[in-house]
Amino acid sequence: DLNLKINEKDHVDIGGADANDLVEEYGTPLYVIDEKRIRDNYNRVFSAFTKYYNDFKILYACKANTNLSVMRILEQEGSYIDAVSPGEVYTSIEAGFSPDRILFTGNNVTNEELSYVDETGVLINLDSISQLKRLSKLVDPEEYKISFRVNPMVGAGHHEHCITGGVMSKFGIMESEAAEVYKMAKNMGFNPVGMHTHIGSGILDPEPFKLATETLMNIAGDVAQNADVDFEFLDLGGGLGIPYEPQENILDINKFANEITGIFKGKLDEYGMGKPSMYIEPGRYLVGDAAYLLTKVNTVKQSYRKFVGVDAGFNTLLRPSMYGSYHHIVVANKANEEAIEEIDVAGNICESGDLFARDRPLPKIEEGDLLAIMNAGAYAFSMSSQYNSRPRTAEILVNNGDSEIIRERETFNDLFNKQIIPERLKK
Ligand code: LLP
Repeated sequence: DLNLKINEKDHVDIGGADANDLVEEYGTPLYVIDEKRIRDNYNRVFSAFTKYYNDFKILYACKANTNLSVMRILEQEGSYIDAVSPGEVYTSIEAGFSPDRILFTGNNVTNEELSYVDETGVLINLDSISQLKRLSKLVDPEEYKISFRVNPMVGAGHHEHCITGGVMSKFGIMESEAAEVYKMAKNMGFNPVGMHTHIGSGILDPEPFKLATETLMNIAGDVAQNADVDFEFLDLGGGLGIPYEPQENILDINKFANEITGIFKGKLDEYGMGKPSMYIEPGRYLVGDAAYLLTKVNTVKQSYRKFVGVDAGFNTLLRPSMYGSYHHIVVANKANEEAIEEIDVAGNICESGDLFARDRPLPKIEEGDLLAIMNAGAYAFSMSSQYNSRPRTAEILVNNGDSEIIRERETFNDLFNKQIIPERLKK
């Protein structure tokens, strides 16, 4: 159930373009982003939810992919933004999002960062009492709109590192203190208008979402009644998963939207909370399956194990090394060939953990073959680095078969960006 298309030449097709032609033109490694897929993903979620609840907004969690063109596409579709750092706020504004379409959810934020976000006019979603107290000294709290992130004690995610709810999580205020914190904010003069939660990332099972929605709504209901708060929005966070392995199921978005909005509306009625906006914050779901990483095989090597060596590494795509994440790999120049052996696909970084796959069933691989690593649209380029002094790779956008470069490949000189050699060390 992956977003894989193969053309009549048995080549991988990305948005109407042949992966092999693209690398002829742009080289490897190469991120290829399919514009239409992003638009389709956005509209699939939007129409599913608005069918059941009209006042619904999607806040694209732009940490997944902050390429300006990607953000422009989502801006055109009408998306809002979940920004987690001043840099993401700045990037979103640069991409054309007006400040009233951005929500800032920071964690361990400095006063300088709070002041910066305040100046942009973006609404601040607070993560701690510390932040609340500090903000009260930085701005005039009178009628100043804020919201709070609450930890609903429900967590889920594809990896321990990606679970953001529950007792081990550093995020949000506690359920038990929520009413007190909202009262404290109101006593300072603030106007708390929202409540937010985000339980984790890469979740294909709807159950934890449903539980988190129910819990958040109960907390919001309690706060509405006991702290006399009139919510303008309730934000259920992101985390919607996508299949990475062919046998994994796709989240049934219509059923999911029906269930979540059902819980949402039921709780609004139960607590008499009126009709606040419903927000969700997907990142991966919108962009994850819209991009491929294309990388060329330069080495086939029989050592104690058999390795296929490619020209990208964990500096380019970190997820397999960092989380042990599975990314499906297709041989882009012979995409229909049967798997004949289990083989390790290794990157070009000088660390043993630099593997895209271990024991992966693949067809016979030869030097010069082109591998398409799938689902490389979310947390891929955005987590890339220059480790091993490898310039970051290029990104191209494909639309109806046409391709355009949207980020140039870095050069060696970019490795020295912002470095200053003290006079006395100069040669
Ligand atoms: N909202 C907040 C407050 C978040 O922290 C996140 C992700 C999202 C929304 C979007 O989550 P999504 O819908 O994309 O699952 N680097 C990891 C994922 C980390 C996600 C962090 N927060 C990975 O590569 O799997």
